[in-house]
Amino acid sequence: MRIVLGVSGGIAAYKAALLLRLLTEAGHDVRVIPTRASLEFVGQATWEALSGHPVATEVFEDVPHVPHVTLGKSADLVIVAPATADLLARAATGRADDLLTATLLTARCPVLLAPAMHTEMWEHPATVANVRTLRDRGTHVLDPASGRLTGADTGPGRLPEPEVIAAAALALVGHPDDAPTSGDLAGRHVVVSAGGTREPLDPVRFLGNRSSGRQGYALARTARERGARVTLVAANVDLADPEGVDVVRVETTAQLRDAVRAAAKDADVVVMAAAVADFRPATHASSKIKKQPGGGAPVIELVQNPDVLAELAADRLRAGQVVVGFAAETGDENGSVLEHGRAKALRKGADLLVVNAVGPDRGFGTPDNDVTVLDGTGEVVAAAAGSKDAVSHTVWDAVLARL
Ligand code: CTP
Repeated sequence: MRIVLGVSGGIAAYKAALLLRLLTEAGHDVRVIPTRASLEFVGQATWEALSGHPVATEVFEDVPHVPHVTLGKSADLVIVAPATADLLARAATGRADDLLTATLLTARCPVLLAPAMHTEMWEHPATVANVRTLRDRGTHVLDPASGRLTGADTGPGRLPEPEVIAAAALALVGHPDDAPTSGDLAGRHVVVSAGGTREPLDPVRFLGNRSSGRQGYALARTARERGARVTLVAANVDLADPEGVDVVRVETTAQLRDAVRAAAKDADVVVMAAAVADFRPATHASSKIKKQPGGGAPVIELVQNPDVLAELAADRLRAGQVVVGFAAETGDENGSVLEHGRAKALRKGADLLVVNAVGPDRGFGTPDNDVTVLDGTGEVVAAAAGSKDAVSHTVWDAVLARL
């Protein structure tokens, strides 16, 4: 896909380099258009080296190729990250005073703007009105993330993580060149999370789990075979990308949550097959934690992560969306695998819960799986044993019955 990546002048411009990497590694041809001001933050050479294309900021450069018209007209997708308050204002008023704004006027493809600025600027009535104008016109404007801003201040205004921007942008277009037109999931957008999240303790250590991501990848591959447009949010998975699937790679629970929610905004189905860490260290040391001279062991305080599945189920991002969870259970003195699954089905509020027994030689990392599918009331609606592809087809059959 041909993507134009606009970069306007904010401190978050460096994150656009990571976004560019994600897009080119996914096989897209990306042309970068920085604004003049953004070159104060990241230089032209970086964009040329990372994109493999020459880079211009003004309409009077490379005039014979009329880049202000050709770049916009030939793009399948335009992303601007970061989009400053000034860029939003110029886009909202239809200015064409540099190559990026001229390109925004000539583009006829989906356009996604990812704002980043100080909270005061984001909340100013002028910016609020500009965002409303752009959204009314069909431009997609992401909400900025909350957190630490350039100085010591915090609040809404941070550029969302590159994975989140990539997921939201790719979800706007899918694969126009080879979108499947047949199959019982044709015309549907499904989001699948896979793998296991890692929560960093220090630069070299993390808390993680044994999920290989195989079941999630099988779900993504089979959904694609059955005609769906698929966004796969992969947490620390060491498997090849399934063909024709948009893969968004994440590490932590916070990144997975943001990427899943961004892609789920226009999804018909969300399947949470990832093993999500319930807890993360309360602090993340910026340097390696060392052994103490007296031999004492450090105490690691944990805090609870948000429950991504329960949030998606309780507050649907799209009407009619089918939300599916997985439950890896071992069974214990308080109940069998199925009893724990039933309790979880009621607790999580998902439409379907796929319960599987795990242990040292069952479930995680093994080629086969053995599952029972429950509905939101804990009733058994399907069961499957066999390859992870066979299990996936049983899950999609149960999903189809609810779409
Ligand atoms: N899940 C999630 N967010 C979390 C934890 C789990 O979205 N913070 C999702 C998983 O992706 C899975 C389902 O919830 O689809 C069940 O995960 P599981 O770990 O079995 O459930 P928990 O809620 O963690 O319950 P417990 O560990 O108490 O059994």
